Formats: sequence, structure tokens, C-alpha cells
Amino acid sequence: MVQPIFSLADVHYSYEKTIPALRGLSLDIHRGERTAVIGANGSGKSTMLALLDALIFPDAGSMHFDGRPITPAAMRDAAFQREFRLRVGYVFQNPDVQLFCPTVREDILFGPLQLGVPTAEIDRRFERVVDLFKLAPLLDRSCHHLSIGEKKKAAIASVLVIEPEVLLLDEPTAGLDPQTTRDIIAVLQEAHKNGKTVIMATHDLHIVEEIADTIHVFGTGRAIIRSGTSEEILEDREFLQNNNLVHILVHRHRHGGHIHEHVHEHIHEHEKGVEDSKDSKDSKESN
Ligand SMILES: Nc1ncnc2c1ncn2[C@@H]1O[C@H](COP(=O)(O)OP(=O)(O)OP(=O)(O)O)[C@@H](O)[C@H]1O
Ligand SMILES: [Mg+2]
Repeated sequence: MVQPIFSLADVHYSYEKTIPALRGLSLDIHRGERTAVIGANGSGKSTMLALLDALIFPDAGSMHFDGRPITPAAMRDAAFQREFRLRVGYVFQNPDVQLFCPTVREDILFGPLQLGVPTAEIDRRFERVVDLFKLAPLLDRSCHHLSIGEKKKAAIASVLVIEPEVLLLDEPTAGLDPQTTRDIIAVLQEAHKNGKTVIMATHDLHIVEEIADTIHVFGTGRAIIRSGTSEEILEDREFLQNNNLVHILVHRHRHGGHIHEHVHEHIHEHEKGVEDSKDSKDSKESN
């Protein structure tokens, strides 16, 4: 059998030894696979990504990358650490954690410089990501004064510029406008075509099918409660509803002067829509 790029076996992790975040997580991720992890707030998605990026390590259980154990000792080996950082890139949920240089330009260049990528190669990649996200007007700006969407783009660019073979992305499209969301979907599809492995946490179920083949669902017990193809999981509305992954909305439509209500599931996570629908319940039919 082909060796997985990442393999987690019965991983447990608690913050400060007292706040459980993962309880018995096992999964294999294969090269070139596109994986989405979904689940309620606090179910352990970001924690899993931090483990995969070797920022934290399991309290119990094991994790392997390309057949090699990932442990604090393994990461203290400078050669291995450099190889790992070149091969695995992580886009944090919060771009403020990712961006710390005085300007966007320096933030994008930081990773490749730190990892010793040759200068000519850095120039080529820099131009590519700047073009991709149309970042030219922002390069000399301070990251702290960018809009949230601009920060997110700069953060993703600062990881893509390393050209890692595995991309870990935490909520890559949260808070982005439709065009920027499309841009990111296109970037992830391109990465997939080039053989990259993409692992992402997301609440944006309406785009999952375009960017993931496999979905793992995290439950409140902080372990995977179900895994399957994107199609299979997204089609199981009952399961999604029972696990609080889709909203039930009451939509109002005007037909011939009357307003009718239809109940249907809503796959976005926008709370505003839910509030609107609650209001609309009160007026069954109006003119
Ligand atoms: N730095 C931290 N210190 C203490 N507890 C933490 C820390 N980060 C996360 N936790 C806790 O660990 C659990 C899992 O959190 P995690 O951030 O992995 O969830 P998540 O699925 O990514 O949630 P969200 O959808 O809100 O991003 C939660 O109970 C959370 O409160
Ligand atoms: Mg998270």
C-alpha cells in the first residue's frame, strides 16, 4: 500500500494538560489528496492542523510524516526541520498570527529567505504570488492596517511562496468577498493539479465540494465522527442537520402580492440569515 503523507494514530491532545482538544484522533492523509475537516466551533480542527504542522505534539498516540515519526526530538534536528518547513506550509486561522513584519513585502519574503531558497527562485515565486493575489498595491503597507480579507490574502501568499507540497489551511475563505473566495478556490484547484496535498478546516460548506475530495467530520467529543467523500457527506442532509452543520432557514418569497415562506436548509454559516428567518416566522402571510 502507498505510504500516507500524514498518519495520525489514536492522538490525544490537551491544552495546558487540562483542556481536552483531541481525543483519540486517527487518520491517514495520502499524497495529492484534498481533505476538508468540518465540525462545530471548538471541535478540534485547528488543533489538528497545528499538530500536522508540528507546532504542538501529541500527549499520547503517534504522528508520522512521510513515514517518519514527528516528535519534539525529530523537530530539533535542524536538517529535518528545514526539510519539513519546506514541504509543509500552514495558513493560520488568524492572519495576525502569521504576519509580523513591518510590510507585506517582508512578510511574503520572510519564509523563503529563512529557509534558504535561492535568490533567483525567490524573485520568481514572489512575482507569481503577488500577481496571483493582485498584491502589488499593498506591498509597502503595514500588515496591521490591512482589511481582514487583504490580510488573509497576504497570509496565504506568504505560505504559497514557499511552494510546499502540503498546504494546511485553517478557514482560508472565512470573511472573504465572493471574488476573493473564487481566487482562493482557483489557487487551491491549481495546487491540486500540480500534485499538492491540501488539508483544510472550513465552515464554508458551499465551497467544500470544489476543493475537497474527502471530508472528516469532527464531533463534540473531539474526535472524528464520520469520514467520507465530499459528495456522500454533503448529500446526507439529515446527518449535517443533526450535527449542527447546516442551518434550517425559512425563506420568504413574494408571489402575486403575497409573501410565502419555504423551509429549506442553508449551507452557509451566516448567523444573520438565521436571525432574519426567525423574524420572518412571526408574519406568516402579509401583503
Ligand atoms: N491555546 C489554547 N489554550 C487553551 N485551550 C485552547 C487553545 N486553543 C484551543 N483551545 C481549546 O481546544 C478545543 C479545540 O479548539 P480548536 O481551536 O482546535 O477548535 P476548532 O474546531 O478549530 O474551532 P473553530 O471552528 O472555532 O475554529 C476548544 O475547546 C478550545 O477552547
Ligand atoms: Mg479553528
